[in-house]
Amino acid sequence: MATINENYMKLQGSYLFAEIARRVAAYKEANPSADIIRLGIGDVTQPLPAVCIEAMHKAVDEMGKAETFRGYGPEQGYSFLTEAIIKNNYTDRGISIASDEIFVSDGSKSDSGNIQEIFGTDNRVAITDPVYPVYLDTNVMAGRTGDIKEDGHFEGITYLPCTAENSFAPDLPKEKVDIIYLCCPNNPTGTTLSREELTKWVNYAKKNDSVILFDAAYAAYITEKNIPRSIYEIHGAKDVAIEFRSFSKTAGFTGTRCGYTIVPKSVMGRTKDGSRVEFNKLWNRRHTTKFNGTAYVVQRAAAAIYTEEGKRQVKELIAYYMENARIIREGLQNVNIKAYGGINAPYIWLKTPHGMSSWDFFDKLLHEANIVGTPGAGFGPCGEGYFRLTSFGSRENTERAVARFAKLKF
Ligand code: MLT
Repeated sequence: MATINENYMKLQGSYLFAEIARRVAAYKEANPSADIIRLGIGDVTQPLPAVCIEAMHKAVDEMGKAETFRGYGPEQGYSFLTEAIIKNNYTDRGISIASDEIFVSDGSKSDSGNIQEIFGTDNRVAITDPVYPVYLDTNVMAGRTGDIKEDGHFEGITYLPCTAENSFAPDLPKEKVDIIYLCCPNNPTGTTLSREELTKWVNYAKKNDSVILFDAAYAAYITEKNIPRSIYEIHGAKDVAIEFRSFSKTAGFTGTRCGYTIVPKSVMGRTKDGSRVEFNKLWNRRHTTKFNGTAYVVQRAAAAIYTEEGKRQVKELIAYYMENARIIREGLQNVNIKAYGGINAPYIWLKTPHGMSSWDFFDKLLHEANIVGTPGAGFGPCGEGYFRLTSFGSRENTERAVARFAKLKF
């Protein structure tokens, strides 16, 4: 009989959002008439920008004619898209990224989950706590951890606590780590790291020969001028950081799927015998072996957001969700619930009232207000006592949810 990857047995229950979906489905079955408002998983609700739809229609027509039909495309992405990304998100911001340092994919979840494959299993990994579960779970699956301990932490991982006490900005690890996951703007806390904080991390990585895996999936939501949109705005980051970006939250592509990863050629690792190797070469090898490119139609839609009209439509979409964030944040403050985030990110991270556990709060919200959110503990032990709401709902549902909050008794 075939044996299994034993590392999977170390994982706890189901993937967080699958577990939430399961609980909500059970509640709905028992209460079929419940009018549930979903502010749990960070899934967008508004239609794709019109420019994307037009570009997709045109691309579909091209696929219907032999002269313009496309089969396999470049695994790394068509140049019409990669050039538009590089110009708009990097060159225009004074950052130089070469055309062979960008890899278009089907989204940041896959990339931030798969990237660990090009690192040795003996690397010491640091992750924030709370954290987007993909970073931790994929390292558990790969065998880079021991078992889970009683405190909910895995052996062999360096956790970087992020709580209200440190303003959700993690301290540098006491021991030397090789791989550091940073998500900014942060999922789940909705907070950001300042230029000074990011500089501290880049300097640490340079000093310790570590690599920063920087998830900037929510960069488009930054409203404050002084917050870096890319880690490459920090001097020296191109030597130590890999950056993930996504069209999911930027332009409503959660169901359409498109993202990209920047792997600068200057980011190096070493072999057992001490030679230095570009991670870019390894990622290119992996990408070309395991991935056959994002659909042409989807890449056309993604490229459309970089037209003048596309930029205007994306701005409008993001403003819509950020207005929801303001409504939630202020609505919570009005009922004396302490809320963080929601200024540079579409997530609001609230402190559960009266020290309630985050799963108890989840149940109370679901049962008494028919609102679904995400328990902070699902993102790690330091998320206990917190709860996440997303601003990706419709305006109507956001306002209804806030009104229901106001009626809750704690
Ligand atoms: C979340 O809710 O944390 C995100 O939507 C999950 C994701 O982007 O994969």
